[in-house]
Amino acid sequence: MNMILRRLSRAAIAGLVAAAALTAAAHSAEAADTLGSAAAGQGRYFGAAVAAGHLGEADYTATLDREFGSVTPENEMKWDATEPSRGTFTFTSADRIVDHAQSRGMDVRGHTLVWHSQLPSWVGTLGASDLRTAMKDHISGLMGHYKGEIHSWDVVNEAFQDGGSGARRSSPFQDKLGDGFIEEAFRAARAADPAAKLCYNDYNTDGVNAKSTAVYNMVKDFTSRGVPIDCVGFQSHFNSNSPVPSDYRQNLQRFADLGVDVQITELDIEGSGSAQAADYTKVVQACLAVERCTGMTVWGVTDKYSWRSGGTPLLFDGNYAEKPAYDAVLSALGGSGGPGEPGGPGEGTATCTATYTRTADWDGGYNGEVTVTAGSEPIGSWTATVTLPARQSVSALWNGTAAFNGNVMTVRPSWNGALAAGTSTTFGFTVTKNGSDAAPAVGACTAS
Ligand code: G3I
Repeated sequence: MNMILRRLSRAAIAGLVAAAALTAAAHSAEAADTLGSAAAGQGRYFGAAVAAGHLGEADYTATLDREFGSVTPENEMKWDATEPSRGTFTFTSADRIVDHAQSRGMDVRGHTLVWHSQLPSWVGTLGASDLRTAMKDHISGLMGHYKGEIHSWDVVNEAFQDGGSGARRSSPFQDKLGDGFIEEAFRAARAADPAAKLCYNDYNTDGVNAKSTAVYNMVKDFTSRGVPIDCVGFQSHFNSNSPVPSDYRQNLQRFADLGVDVQITELDIEGSGSAQAADYTKVVQACLAVERCTGMTVWGVTDKYSWRSGGTPLLFDGNYAEKPAYDAVLSALGGSGGPGEPGGPGEGTATCTATYTRTADWDGGYNGEVTVTAGSEPIGSWTATVTLPARQSVSALWNGTAAFNGNVMTVRPSWNGALAAGTSTTFGFTVTKNGSDAAPAVGACTAS
């Protein structure tokens, strides 16, 4: 597919996505029993960093699809992944994530355009004039591919040194183009996709300190001179050496007071149990206390794939079980408690039934539909199992997310978990017969 057609088709998809996102938001308002829906109820997004390589894992995608309203490609939009040799762009892995997100009504954060790390070696060999051109071409090539599809871009990442000086970090861009490379990057980004929020993103800038003050002064300068900047990202990688700062909220607020949005972009907190939960609560409460804090992203779905997996810093453990930190975040977001948990939907007595119908039939396959109906109590979520006859396989599923164990398909809701008493939803699937026309068996429905 040539580039023009690719862009047209991506733009067309973006229109559909906007509609899907609206639908998702409407559903979210009904039941704040997931991170994404609870955050949406507060006017915020709640996202996760995602790796394309894990999207084939059923539990990974089920958790992602159920809980999160925004995704950030963890590595797939970085320079080494998207322009490994000059002028040759590869979007396969990033497209996979964007397509997955869009098909489920999730938004996408772009990470990242200009960064000293994960930079292909050819960039460092260029002289100043060539480097300037290459930087602008990279921005326009990458942003142009996703024009209209990314809610916020990390335009420049980690351009300041740690420590007390507030100095810029050495990089090919800094060393050859000087301080002005940052504003040049932001101007190029605005031209490439005027609809995207343009963010500066960094770490160890979460509290008031020399580094965050250096960033603050840059943002103040940019806003006073009309350099296009819309937001500041606070990575928020915390552990015992770098705990959640006590002036976190004040720091977010002072940036917001400059007239930019703030976002928590890469949140993870090493630890476990109630101490980790309490730290997560502090972060969520700080964001909610700042009107211009528009959303939060955790840096991964499950501890087992975290860049700091030994520190178990995320909300779901390696088996995708919700940790105390998950409950704390959901509660801080005003969520109604996890499924079946105290205060959560369906606590105690919720029931549901599932009935099956074949809705279409042809030589090689058929479509099945399962209607899930809540009992006399409202339910927050449901699980239904479908056992397929031997040889049959499922080639598509809609209005649900599936996990397979042999020929047993366990289906959970995508957007349609919450049901008022006595009301129904459906999910559907396409089966390849492979010579067997037998009907699948629908097992008991479990409500929570
Ligand atoms: O995919 C290859 C695999 O094929 C190979 O076998 C393996 C061997 O090392 O490496 C794999 O690539 C790794 C990649 O993550 C995917 O797992 C890279 O080595 C590794 O360097 C890379 O680390 C990423 C890191 O950025 C690089 O700087 C982390 O996943 C990613 O979470 C991390 O994210 C950064 C943000 O972009 C910026 N802020 C800090 C944050 C945490 O470091």
